[in-house]
Amino acid sequence: MTPAAIIASAERSLVNLGLDHLGLLQLHGPSIPELDALAVTLSDLKARGLTRAVGLNSFDPAVIDHAIGLHVIDVVMIDYNVLRPERAPLIARAAAAGKGVLAGMPLAMGHTRPLLARLRGPRDLWYAARALKNHRDDLVRGARFGFLHRLPDMTGSQAALAYVLANPGVSAAVFGATRPEHLRENLSASGRVLSDGVLARIHGAQSRKPLT
Ligand SMILES: NC(=O)c1ccc[n+]([C@@H]2O[C@H](COP(=O)([O-])OP(=O)(O)OC[C@H]3O[C@@H](n4cnc5c(N)ncnc54)[C@H](OP(=O)(O)O)[C@@H]3O)[C@@H](O)[C@H]2O)c1
Repeated sequence: MTPAAIIASAERSLVNLGLDHLGLLQLHGPSIPELDALAVTLSDLKARGLTRAVGLNSFDPAVIDHAIGLHVIDVVMIDYNVLRPERAPLIARAAAAGKGVLAGMPLAMGHTRPLLARLRGPRDLWYAARALKNHRDDLVRGARFGFLHRLPDMTGSQAALAYVLANPGVSAAVFGATRPEHLRENLSASGRVLSDGVLARIHGAQSRKPLT
């Protein structure tokens, strides 16, 4: 993630997208030293009008905290979902500093549904293998949230998005979906509100001790 590579990437994106400026230039998982080394370059890109805003995503709260203190950073993407309530204070700090907050992985990568229920075709096998290899803890914790998929007035994915968007510090949620019906379903989650009873069940599931 060198300054020259970032400039080349931004200029290539403008050509590929047919735009004269980017709305948001988002860095993928920079380290703190990389961020510091890029600060001047990112300011220059904004000053030249090539991008209106600059953001980054990271799983590391220390990187996000550092970014919150940088004037050049406008937006932070934080992994936040029903399995990650511990991110709430970080989100509050970012919002209080005037940063836009994007919730990444808002559907908890689907881990609130049993793995077998998600296997609908060969292309799902790769996701299942990745989950078993890298996200075993989330799979176990996700099993506590099966009730989200049995609500009378919304689907489990809509409930997961409603939970994330109910946080006043969250500006928007960035979900992944490869099926058009998922995209339609998720877009219609906008404006949905979880009842106090459902929120209480979510908080109860979040506070349960891990199984030993
Ligand atoms: N640190 C970070 O902040 C961080 C880390 C990782 C990712 N991200 C960002 O967050 C974005 C989303 O992450 P993600 O895709 O890994 O996780 P996600 O959005 O939490 O979950 C995506 C999974 O949910 C499924 N899904 C979507 N809508 C559904 C619906 N209505 N019903 C049932 N299943 C549904 C998708 O399946 P289908 O493909 O079958 O639709 C896919 O398997 C990424 O694109 C990335 O930009 C941020």
